[in-house]
Amino acid sequence: MAKRALTDYPVDGQRVFVRVDFNVPLQDGAVADDTRIRAALPTIRYLIDHGCRVVLASHLGRPKGQVVPELRLDPIGVRLSELLERPVEKVDDCIGPDIVTAAEALAPGGLLLLENLRFHAEETANDPAFAAQLAALAEIYVNDAFGTAHRAHASTVGVPGILPGVAGLLMARELEVLGRLLSAPARPFVVLLGGAKVSDKIGVIEKMLTVADTILVGGAMCFPLLAAGGLGVGRSKVEEGTSEVAGRTLAAAAGSACEFVLPTDIVVAAQATAAAPRRVVPADAIPADEMGLDVGPATAAAFSERLRAAGTVFWNGPMGLFELPEFAAGTRAVAEAVAACPGVSVVGGGDTVSAVRSFGLEGRITHVSTGGGASMEFLEGRALPGVEALLDA
Ligand code: 3PG
Repeated sequence: MAKRALTDYPVDGQRVFVRVDFNVPLQDGAVADDTRIRAALPTIRYLIDHGCRVVLASHLGRPKGQVVPELRLDPIGVRLSELLERPVEKVDDCIGPDIVTAAEALAPGGLLLLENLRFHAEETANDPAFAAQLAALAEIYVNDAFGTAHRAHASTVGVPGILPGVAGLLMARELEVLGRLLSAPARPFVVLLGGAKVSDKIGVIEKMLTVADTILVGGAMCFPLLAAGGLGVGRSKVEEGTSEVAGRTLAAAAGSACEFVLPTDIVVAAQATAAAPRRVVPADAIPADEMGLDVGPATAAAFSERLRAAGTVFWNGPMGLFELPEFAAGTRAVAEAVAACPGVSVVGGGDTVSAVRSFGLEGRITHVSTGGGASMEFLEGRALPGVEALLDA
C-alpha cells in the first residue's frame, strides 16, 4: 500500500516531529561521514520553506538505555547547522517539560535537535508512554529515517500511532527506487552480493532468485557457499553455523531459473595483512593454510561483464577486504562496472557505500541507499514497521 507523502499533506506553519536516521560514524568527536545528514536535508528544507517548526529526532549507536557521552548528538547538530547555514538548537534530552518548552518556543522555520532517543530504553521497547511524550512535541509526524524503518521502536511506530504520519522526501525516494527493483526492474536485473555474513543475505537471495536474472556472490559470504558445494576453503572466514543455510541456498539456486554465480578464482594469503605475500588460486584449490581475501581477476572480469550489460543492478557487500589496498582490486573492479552500467544502479549498506565513495564513483550510481539492514529487509519482500505505521496514500 502506497503511503501518504509529505508533499501531499498540509504542513504550513505546523510543529512537525521528524524521525531522521542520523546514525552516522563519528571520529574524534566530529561527524566522519555526513551522507545520512545530507540525505535528510531536502525534507528539512521543505519544512523550513513551509514555515514549520521542526523537531528532529534520531538514535546514534546502541547505548541500550544509558546516557553514553560519546553518543550525544551534539556533533551532528554542529554539522547539520553548517550544512543548512542556519542555527540548530540542540537539547540534552528528548522528553520532559524542558523539551516541551523548547519545542513550543520554536519560531517558524526553527530547528530543534533532540538528544539520542536510545538513551531511554523505552525507545527500542516501543513504550507507549514514552511515545506519547515524544508525540506531545508536535502536531504532525514525518518519517525520513529509511535506515531505521525495519525497527518497530517508539519513534518509528509509536509516535505515528498517535500523530498523523507521512513519508519524508528521502523515505519516499527510497521506497520508490527499491520498490521498482521488486516490481518492474529493467532487465537484465543483476544482483551483486558480498560482505561477511551469508545468514544476513539468505532472505534476499531467496527472494532475488524469483526476481533477478543473475545473482553474483563474492566477499567472505562466498566461502560457506563454496564449502557447501564440496570445496575446501582453507582458513577463509566462514561464519559459524552457516553450513545448513549455505546448503539450502545452493539447492534453491539450483532449482531456480536465475543464474547464480560464485567466484572461480580467489586472492589468498596466510594473513589478512598488507605485508602478507598474496597470490591468485582457482576457487577449488584454496590451500588449507591460507585464506581468501578478495575475488580473483577472472571472477572480477566475469562479474563486471554481467554488470556492464545490466538494465538494473543492486549491490550490497564488498568483494573482499577492500580496506587494505592489497585486497581491494576485486571490489574496485565491480564498483567500476556498476558505475559503468547504463541502466539503473542501486547500492546499499555502509561498507559498500564507503567502498564506492573511496573509489570516487558515488556520483555515477543512480541511487545510493541510506538503508543497510532496512534495504535488505525491504528486498526480502518484508513489510517495514516504520513504513506500515504511516498514513495510507
Ligand atoms: C542502521 O545504521 O542500520 C540504522 O541506523 C539502524 O541501526 P540499528 O541496527 O542499531 O537499529
